[in-house]
Amino acid sequence: MTPPGSAPKPWFKDGRLHFALGIEDTFVPQSREGERAIDEYELTEHYEHFVADFQLAKSTGAGLLRWGLPWYRIAPEQGQWDWSWTDRALNSIADAGIRPIIDLVHYGTPIWLAGQFAHPDYPQHVAEYAVRVAERYADIATDYTPVNEPVIHALFCGEYGYWPPYLSGTQGFTAIAANLARGIVLTQRGISEALADASFVHVEAAMKFICPEDALEHASESARLNDQVFLVEDLITGRVDDDHPLVNALRTNGIDDNTLTWLRENAVQPDVMGINYYPRHSTELFEHGVTHSGGFSDPRPSIDRGIQGLQEALTTFADRYGAPVMLTETCVTGSIDERIKWLDESVALIDQMRTEGSNVVGYTWWPLFDMYEWTWRHSDNPRSDHLLTMGLYDLIESDSGLLRAENPVADRFREHASASSQTNPLAKRNQHMNSARLTINTAATIGAINPRLFGSFVEHLGRSVYDGIYEPGHPLANVDGFRTDVIELVKELGVTAIRYPGGNFVSGFKWEDSVGPRSERPRRLDLAWHSTETNEVGLHEFQKWLDEVGSELMLAVNLGTRGTAEALDLLEYSNLREGSTLAQSRIEHGRTEPFDVRIWCLGNEMDGPWQLGHRSADDYGKLAAQTARAMKAFDPNLELVICGSSSSSMPTFAEWERVVLTHAYDAVDYISCHAYYENTGDLGSFLASGVDMDHFIRTVTASADHVKAVRGSDKTINISFDEWNIWYNSRYENVDKIVGVDNWPVAPRLLEDQYSVADAVVFGSLLITLLKHADRVTSASLAQLVNVIAPIMTEPGGQSWRQTTFFPFASTAHHAVGVALDVSPVSGSYSTDKFGDVPFVDAVASFDDKTGQIAVYVVNRSTDEDTELSLDFAGETGGTVGYSVTARTLSDSDIHAANTRENPERVGLVENTSATIDGGSVHITLPAVSWTEILLVPLG
Ligand code: AHR
Repeated sequence: MTPPGSAPKPWFKDGRLHFALGIEDTFVPQSREGERAIDEYELTEHYEHFVADFQLAKSTGAGLLRWGLPWYRIAPEQGQWDWSWTDRALNSIADAGIRPIIDLVHYGTPIWLAGQFAHPDYPQHVAEYAVRVAERYADIATDYTPVNEPVIHALFCGEYGYWPPYLSGTQGFTAIAANLARGIVLTQRGISEALADASFVHVEAAMKFICPEDALEHASESARLNDQVFLVEDLITGRVDDDHPLVNALRTNGIDDNTLTWLRENAVQPDVMGINYYPRHSTELFEHGVTHSGGFSDPRPSIDRGIQGLQEALTTFADRYGAPVMLTETCVTGSIDERIKWLDESVALIDQMRTEGSNVVGYTWWPLFDMYEWTWRHSDNPRSDHLLTMGLYDLIESDSGLLRAENPVADRFREHASASSQTNPLAKRNQHMNSARLTINTAATIGAINPRLFGSFVEHLGRSVYDGIYEPGHPLANVDGFRTDVIELVKELGVTAIRYPGGNFVSGFKWEDSVGPRSERPRRLDLAWHSTETNEVGLHEFQKWLDEVGSELMLAVNLGTRGTAEALDLLEYSNLREGSTLAQSRIEHGRTEPFDVRIWCLGNEMDGPWQLGHRSADDYGKLAAQTARAMKAFDPNLELVICGSSSSSMPTFAEWERVVLTHAYDAVDYISCHAYYENTGDLGSFLASGVDMDHFIRTVTASADHVKAVRGSDKTINISFDEWNIWYNSRYENVDKIVGVDNWPVAPRLLEDQYSVADAVVFGSLLITLLKHADRVTSASLAQLVNVIAPIMTEPGGQSWRQTTFFPFASTAHHAVGVALDVSPVSGSYSTDKFGDVPFVDAVASFDDKTGQIAVYVVNRSTDEDTELSLDFAGETGGTVGYSVTARTLSDSDIHAANTRENPERVGLVENTSATIDGGSVHITLPAVSWTEILLVPLG
């Protein structure tokens, strides 16, 4: 007997992450015309294979098994109890040495219980059954889930009329939710009395509803559903009082105050709060102009919010209920690779969260073996038509029944489960250290660094201009309506040239709309971003703002819906000092001096089918050549950029460059490149995005040089990489995108991506790649600057802050001066799905011969190992003698950490104190997933 006071700690308090599995256990034994009873244990033949199934679960290293009881079989008649199968099953679980978390209700009330969850005595009946279970299996099971996902029960059985008792509407939902709550309270109280060491893992579906700005007609319904996710847990934990957002709805739908008072007075708490999160299904989206009732018959579209959604759910439930949290169901229904990817990502996230101090105590892959979709109930087709490939074991039909075939997900789960015996994932991470070497040689020059490499981009898109740089009502606005806090941040960022006014916007833009008296400027539809352009800020205002921030204007002309004549008009208006009607009108509009714009873009992304006025390479090449020649007839010293490819994955990539340059080689000076990268869940490949950018630059350079050779020209075309960044374009496509003929908002929130540490590390590596091509990339524009995929964010009337990407840009823009140096990095490599083997370390340096300062930029792409880096000197530099070294690193134990409105200074650069000079070399430790700037400053 265990002496009092020396009982072992419950599993959820031992500091470990517990790996669990589940066996799908939906039971809906009732049926009616057109429906058949569903019992997943029958469908998966678990009733026969349970002994082997528990052994399979054990063999994967899981310590816990979420496993349900078929109440309807245990209680075939009122007052009758049949434990024959469950006795055998629970003994087998005990024999397997796996700890069960008993799922008491997963739908499946007994057949004799009329009205099922709506029966007035359902709470007493379920509690009686639960107490009998707890008493009977006291030696085997002490962990209980009273009801799995009660809100989903209330929806399916109470609101959608899908399952018995087939109630519908909000009244039906409320009736079931309240009765389930009473049942859960009585169950937990009853078991606690019968079993002193019982613990309770409450489980709810972590649903989230998203209502984008273009679907605001659904805003209140979306808010209600987001509150409803917590309703049953709030009821049973005594959180529903007069201040609860749904209390009035409960009252209106028939829940009286006595019930609410009883629930508050008898409240029970979870020992562990479990959430079921499926990345592809847990987030539902409202759409403008469409109303779905939800559920199987009329589902809303769902969006995949991946680990971001998981992190949010775990944190929200933990904060709300103040209990340890457990992921009690997760997986993706998909290929083996997709399942492994999600397993790895979700476990990594939970490791990170635990390192950060989150009390996440369990991880459940659901299910152990494949299962059958609930649609089986409403169909006549064989079960094989309803198979969901989710498990660690495939279910295979055979003459002797369903076989369980282990798949590679099981192996990966095993690895994670065995690694979880380490309580501190960081300790695990840093056991090994990579090493890498760079060579500093000031003679190894790549090329002069053109300051225009640190340009940016302001497009009339979303809140980039309005509510971004310009907000006349803001307390910090200057007399022209520009926010001075933003001006200061732009200066701190160090941007040189700024591309304007688009982007896709420019291809439908009439520049004349944006000049002259503001009161006479038209409001126009912007077809590119489905918004309204007020023209409150135009060419003159923007130039005034540029004068404040000290940046150069890079202007784009519209070659989408317009042509050479309008481009020439804009050029004459902007650059002719005086003497023509257009120059005179600029003067009358308040600008005596010409704008004198030196660098011009000949349209935007004309290779893209999304572009207004999209053309073939041949057609665009002719138009660009004609426009360029005409512009140069005005001023031969203009610098003109012809549109190259809008990504290296365009089907016309490389051939487009050849064709357009063949038409326009003599008349233009640059060809553009655009590239955006996004973490789609494959972190290793994402970290290696610079490999794609490098390939892009090399290919375009080769195309341009090919045309040069064919023409026998002695002129070299350089690259203007005038859009580059991390962009979660899939979020724009799936969430932000505005539609509707009557829906043209002014300055909507669009492309407001929040950047993580990992994003900033990739971003820093893209800067390294640009510098490594400083000889050919002589202009570049970070797309974009404020609010729209931006390093700087603002809130209307409120603060502004720096995103994670701000830091690598500002450091590089300020310190990468002079010439770029090839540092020939040598490191180990890792394998990526997209790019094959990729070196862990990439780096470049700059050397400023005026000050003697050397700046080294280096990225460590390893996801789990630090790198010990040494910088050796070669050539005439005389070693490290005469330099001091300092370094600043961007990294974080949580690579998803970001700066947000609520926490704007969460991430920044940190002094890397490991940097030392020793024996002619510099040594420094680079954390996993990090970007670092090392400054070598001459002494004296
Ligand atoms: O920067 C956002 C958009 O990306 C630009 O408008 C367009 O040129 C590119 O597709």
